Amino acid sequence: MRTERKMLLIGWLAGLATAGGIAGIALTLILTGVIFNISATQPHTPLFAWGVHATMKNSVARRSRGDVPRLPLTRDTLLAGAREYEAHCVVCHGGPGVARAPWVSGMLPTPPYLIDASSRWSHAELYNLVHDGVKMTGMPAWGEVESDRKVAEVVAFLEIMPKLTSDQFDRLRRRVHAELAASSPTVPAAGQPSGATP
Ligand code: HEC
Repeated sequence: MRTERKMLLIGWLAGLATAGGIAGIALTLILTGVIFNISATQPHTPLFAWGVHATMKNSVARRSRGDVPRLPLTRDTLLAGAREYEAHCVVCHGGPGVARAPWVSGMLPTPPYLIDASSRWSHAELYNLVHDGVKMTGMPAWGEVESDRKVAEVVAFLEIMPKLTSDQFDRLRRRVHAELAASSPTVPAAGQPSGATP
């Protein structure tokens, strides 16, 4: 009986040592850059891409606070959200009839178009995503630099966006750029609407 227990213990210890050795070798290969290429030109393997995306979705769902502001979808909210979207989002995410900036295709992950984002995320999830950003992707935490009100405005805009035609989106962009030009006539506004249409 005692010998049996001894053998079992030795078996467990040998198993642990092997598992530790394999984990150590894997960690060394990762840390020394042998098996993980951080270059943004190398796409993730399908398994890794699935893993990080699933983690992101579950982390957002688990951590999203429910008590986030929700603004009435009025004309004023639409305009305020359009200003915010034009200033901070369109370059990476594009919009109805508008492509992302060309350099964005060099990002990994490439920022997705957001036209259907409100069908994939709840209001609270969208607010938390925009407010807190997404680590290691290039998606900034806008709540660090913008007021909660402005975050709520741009989230409302994301929720209105599926209903906007490319013409309506273009008119909104023109209006925002006209406002910018009127408030600072000497500074040319970047990324003019219409011309940026693909
Ligand atoms: C520098 C580029 C960049 C800018 C600017 C940017 N984002 Fe993002 N955003 C990203 C990237 C990259 C992701 C992808 C994250 C991922 O898939 O893990 C992302 C993801 C998102 C998502 C989740 C989309 C989805 O369906 O998975 C939302 C919502 C979002 N961004 C909203 C915004 C809003 C609103 C703004 C402007 C206030 C903004 N982003 C500005 C890069 C950017």
